[in-house]
Amino acid sequence: MMASRLQRVSSLMMRQVQQQVRGFHQTSAVASSQLFVHRDDDVDEPFDFTPETLKKAEAVISIYPKGFQASAVIPVLDLAQRQHGWLPISAMHKVAELLKMPRIRVYEVATFYTMFNRKPVGKYFVQVCTNTPCLLCGGDNLLEGVSAKLGIKVGEMTKDKMFSLSEVECLGACVNAPMMMVNDDYYVSTRTQ
Ligand code: FES
Repeated sequence: MMASRLQRVSSLMMRQVQQQVRGFHQTSAVASSQLFVHRDDDVDEPFDFTPETLKKAEAVISIYPKGFQASAVIPVLDLAQRQHGWLPISAMHKVAELLKMPRIRVYEVATFYTMFNRKPVGKYFVQVCTNTPCLLCGGDNLLEGVSAKLGIKVGEMTKDKMFSLSEVECLGACVNAPMMMVNDDYYVSTRTQ
């Protein structure tokens, strides 16, 4: 009697986990296809470094040994994105020029890391983590709630360009899961473990 009750409970739990995992993979696929595909004919617009950003980029590049300037590609791409709000192809070309590296090497980095936005994002960029520890603590519910509140799906921006929503992998705050990030700030769960 007790054994069959336990079996029913465990199969119910298994079904719930399977549904959660299925839903998780579906939303991840949508996010990934929008974040990682590089096309040369993507929306583009003019970009050039401002004197202020260029000064910061040169300071970063000077940290690296002579002949290894290409190692500065991530911080320099980040500076370009901070100046422009997102990373158009023209910005990647300027970074390649500045670091004297082939454009393809810059594309490879910019399309690999999800912190580089290949299309415009809202003034407030909301990133909700649904990696395993956050998922187990309700990260998917958090994502659903934010999506409903903003009226947009993952990968979309509100019409007034104030908010963009993204689903991301672990942001390194698992101890306070679930968590999300708005621009550079972390918002974490304050419940005691
Ligand atoms: S799993 Fe969400 S911050 Fe690590």
